[in-house]
Amino acid sequence: MDRRKFVAATAAATAATTQAQQPAPVRDKPLRSEHWGPLYYDAAEKAQVDEVVDTGLPFRFSSRRGIAALKVATYEKEFAAKIGARYALAVSSGTAALECAMAALQIGPGDEVILPAWTWHSDCTAIVRAGALPVFAEIDETFNLDPSDIEHRITPNTKAIIAVHLQGSPAHLDPIFAIARKHKLRVIEDCSQAVGASYKGRRLGSMGDIGTYSHQESKTITSGEGGTVVSSDPEIFERAVRFHDVGSIRPPHSETLGATKLAPFVGTNFRMNEFSGGVMLVQLRKLDAIIASVRANSARVYEALSKISGLRFRTRPDSAGDLASPVFIRFESKAQRDRFLDLMRAENVPATPPGGSVVLPIQSYIENKVATHPAWPTWTSPRGRAIQYGAASCPRTSDVLSRFAGVPVGPKYTRQDTDDIVAAVRKAYPAALKA
Ligand SMILES: Cc1ncc(COP(=O)(O)O)c(C=O)c1O
Repeated sequence: MDRRKFVAATAAATAATTQAQQPAPVRDKPLRSEHWGPLYYDAAEKAQVDEVVDTGLPFRFSSRRGIAALKVATYEKEFAAKIGARYALAVSSGTAALECAMAALQIGPGDEVILPAWTWHSDCTAIVRAGALPVFAEIDETFNLDPSDIEHRITPNTKAIIAVHLQGSPAHLDPIFAIARKHKLRVIEDCSQAVGASYKGRRLGSMGDIGTYSHQESKTITSGEGGTVVSSDPEIFERAVRFHDVGSIRPPHSETLGATKLAPFVGTNFRMNEFSGGVMLVQLRKLDAIIASVRANSARVYEALSKISGLRFRTRPDSAGDLASPVFIRFESKAQRDRFLDLMRAENVPATPPGGSVVLPIQSYIENKVATHPAWPTWTSPRGRAIQYGAASCPRTSDVLSRFAGVPVGPKYTRQDTDDIVAAVRKAYPAALKA
């Protein structure tokens, strides 16, 4: 054998031995990640859509449909009852719901709103589009607002706090409400990523001045796009309704409110249609079943993983009330976390960094203060000109996000799926700590 052939043969033999020594991955194929709502689509959603097609009445305020048969209106009534709020308004998206919240609380130029540095764009864009100033506070290991980082950011212009309940888990509501009461601030609960979850026995969205929800495809229940606003304050609700429908109010909202208080004002059109309303209505009736399945599957994972020495989870202010997915694991460093992600991928059980949101102060349009018009009031006020965003404004947020990895658990996961998650973490976690 010449030298070239000898080297090639040796390399092939080594590779074969290494392959033989490599333990098989936990799964042959990657564990699927699921969008929950569509997994539950069945004849009920189909019947709702068919009915709208058959009747030819897709407009939510159609006078040809009897009030009792209005799908969006029925959805609103049932949603309010489910959440435990007096009123609910269906809108076209979670972003629209946030813009309604700004209008409903009369937040505008000169006002400041505190929100977490890590959340979805819409929390910030709703503030900016109202002409107000976004002021970011750090998150803690709940991935939600750190209550200890709020008070020093309050100025005489601060009007509201957006408590966003991210990745299925409630924010620390008790201390946030205490701060809001002390400083006479409004609280908006953005429940888009935690639809149906609760805090100390009450559903998210029902405790603040106003609550908002998204029903985009990746949320708990969905009509592809959609949103809901809830409030128990009749004046706040009337403003939200009027804003979403070019300043007007019609039945059934005018009937629900009884005497309306406000004159028309400038609004927009964020109305939901009857196709979405019908789908949302039947999805809503499945909400508790979806959440119960996720919690049952997640409980198996939490229980098994809690026996791994040293393993710590994300901080959960209400582990009985949250949506329990993804299951987030804490690391001491980004290097360990990244190694864990690689190892889990090799096991075909993908884990991901905290997702579904962005670190807002480092987005270029925020860091550079770019609105739709150069004279936009947000950043032309003295406070707006002075405020500094960028990475230096939220170091703890970036640190927290760099040290966690999450494994999503779906409502239709089998026992084998959750067993595989546990087996993969048992292999990958101790190995990642060696990084
Ligand atoms: C926290 C949060 N707020 C608001 C929204 C906006 O919802 P939508 O996409 O329905 O406009 C989202 C969407 O992902 C979100 O995650």
